[in-house]
This record gives sequence, C-alpha cells and structure tokens, in this order.
Amino acid sequence: QAQDAAAGEKVFAQCRACHQIGPTAKNAVGPQLNGVIGRHSGSVEGYNYSPANKNSGLTWDEATFREYIKDPRAKVPGTKMVYAGLKDEQRINDLVAYLKSFDAS
Ligand code: HEM
Repeated sequence: QAQDAAAGEKVFAQCRACHQIGPTAKNAVGPQLNGVIGRHSGSVEGYNYSPANKNSGLTWDEATFREYIKDPRAKVPGTKMVYAGLKDEQRINDLVAYLKSFDAS
C-alpha cells in the first residue's frame, strides 16, 4: 500500500497536541519526534520520560512503531502517553511516511 506523507500530515494533527516535529521542534508534553523512525526509545535529551518508556528497550523501527501506535499502553505498559491508538492501516502508512520525512536534528 502506498504511503502518502501529505495525508500523514493530516493524521499528525492528532499528535500535535503533544508532539512537535520539524526544524524548530522542541520537547513539549511529549518529546520532539524528528528522526523518530529508527530512534531508540527514551533517547531525546532533556525530555523527562516515564521509567516505562525510558527503560522499554525498544527501538522505533517501523514495525515496532506500528505496533506501538495501534495501542501505546499495550506495547509500553505504564507509558504516560495518553493516546487511545490509531488502528487504520492506511492512516498508519501515511503517518509513517510523514514522520520519515523529518530527519533527526
Ligand atoms: C511518547 C508518538 C500522540 C504524549 C511518544 C513516543 C512516540 C510517540 C513514538 C515515544 C518517543 C520516544 O521514546 O522518544 C506519537 C504519535 C502520536 C502521539 C505518532 C499521534 C498519532 C500523543 C498525544 C499525546 C502524547 C495525543 C498527549 C495527549 C506523549 C508523551 C510521551 C509520548 C507524554 C512520553 C511517554 C513516556 O515517557 O511514558 N509518542 N504520539 N502523544 N507521547 Fe506520543
């Protein structure tokens, strides 16, 4: 299935309440998400993670991220991210394309 970053930007509206992305992104309620696909969990400097996220040992490769975003509290029990989850595979595809368009900075 195609991944559409422009459609993913619209999906990211749900995340923007808590996360920033892009050249001027700062940590907010949640950590900034530049380069998140491929990033080690709990690794953004200056962000105060929960122990659950910090110590999860996960790397946000595409497969792991997809599982996480479907049901964050199932994948990381004890996470302080309050988000019910995104179930629709096409919307997840598009979201991943959008996230991948921002390198770590
Ligand atoms: C953590 C993605 C929505 C608040 C994270 C992490 C990812 C992520 C990948 C782990 C980051 C890391 O380990 O560095 C997303 C995406 C969202 C979304 C793609 C939308 C689909 C939200 C929303 C909120 C939120 C709506 C607030 C209501 C947080 C918080 C953490 C977090 C507080 C830190 C968790 C902890 O330390 O336990 N998010 N998130 N996120 N997110 Fe989200």
